[in-house]
Amino acid sequence: MVKIKNTKILINGKKRLSGHVRIAGAKNAALPELAAIILSNGEFHFRDVPEVEDIRVMFQALKNLGAEGEFHSNTVKITLPEIKSPVVPKEIVETSRASILILGPLLARNGYAKVSKPGGCAIGERKINFHIQGLQKMGAEIHEDDQHIIATAHKPLHAIDYTFPNKTVTGTENLLMAAVLTEGTTILRNCALEPEVGDLIQLLLSMGADIKGKDTDTITITGKTSLNGTVHRVIPDRIEMGTYVIAGCFQDNEIVVENAVPEYVHSLLKILEEIGVYVETGKDTIKLKTNGVFKPIDVETSPYPGFPTDLQAQLTTLLTQADGISRIKENIFNNRFQHTHELNTMGANIEVEGDISIIKGKTPLIGKTIRGTDLRASAALVLGGLIAEGQTIMENAYQLFRGYENMPRKLVQLGADVKQIEE
Ligand code: EPU
Repeated sequence: MVKIKNTKILINGKKRLSGHVRIAGAKNAALPELAAIILSNGEFHFRDVPEVEDIRVMFQALKNLGAEGEFHSNTVKITLPEIKSPVVPKEIVETSRASILILGPLLARNGYAKVSKPGGCAIGERKINFHIQGLQKMGAEIHEDDQHIIATAHKPLHAIDYTFPNKTVTGTENLLMAAVLTEGTTILRNCALEPEVGDLIQLLLSMGADIKGKDTDTITITGKTSLNGTVHRVIPDRIEMGTYVIAGCFQDNEIVVENAVPEYVHSLLKILEEIGVYVETGKDTIKLKTNGVFKPIDVETSPYPGFPTDLQAQLTTLLTQADGISRIKENIFNNRFQHTHELNTMGANIEVEGDISIIKGKTPLIGKTIRGTDLRASAALVLGGLIAEGQTIMENAYQLFRGYENMPRKLVQLGADVKQIEE
């Protein structure tokens, strides 16, 4: 992992991209789904697991708990017959926020969980108070030391009727996973509607859980005393999908995005149509046609089915090429504009005022040495490098590999000039 942290990506821009690109399984579905194996001592077989760093971290964290298994060729075979250590140490999870997803299921199975506080993206404050509040209401005693969250259930957890004060994706997933092994009927209200939550419910159902309300904001869970192992295929990654769709919008490019679910990126496709891109969707494909002329637009991020915060940075790169002033309001995280500084270094004209970025287009981009500060910012910079004149060097490419499977290789297959350099 340390080796990858020093990886750079070199991009010689202005190459025409064409052809097909296949979208991998969703990182943010696979993360809670791997954590869900803790709820059972059965055997699991996952397909379409993305080979990205955050998933490797989760796999290591599960092995540290006592799981046995293997992860290769996008497949995870794994079982956790007994919990050997109820601890998720900092050394394993410091680069990722995966650890928090272990708290709920480990507490439900084991009655005790000591989990390193989540690290991960530098995108602003990422609270977990609703995860904690929900588990406390279920009867857990929770305290923190400098590095860990320590949860103990002196008696078995009990069912609750809990309304999330704000929508939270991993919060919904954590309480869901705790509730499936908790006696009685738990009702979770104001749940996140992201497809990754729905896919986790699909997995839990095939493990034998009793859950009603999939894809709605009120989920009713009747606890079971035990759950079985199962076979599961992870849904496609809608953020990777959206990133390649945006790449397909730059002048002359002609990309077909495969293993796509157009509905998952509906909010993005609507924006693209509004700015002047012709979008053609098939059952599992998305094709773009554009003449490289875009109208500016005002956009804001919101929970699913709204426009996702995880595509905000990548859309910003595209809007640097629109004729006029676009504005993006970031409603989910309070420090998710670090890409704007780097894009400005490359020649963009973006001002940030509070939670709004003001993108003044159209500005040609020029290759520079820039730094990937977080996962999605890195993707936005790679997109910038693809359309820039000259060579772009992106440092700290580890961030990109946390969530994008083989991005340099996929881009090269589409005709880009991209190299990955290990130091
Ligand atoms: N929030 C609270 N209290 C909580 C939980 C959340 O106030 O207990 C606030 C957060 O501070 C934030 C908002 O609610 O302002 C939404 O946070 P949420 O909990 O939904 O985010 P998350 O579960 O930590 C997941 C994804 C993120 C994605 C967000 C929003 C995973 C593993 N991560 O994070 O993905 O940005 O939902 O959609 O599912 C990424 O993949 O690049 C990424 C950052």
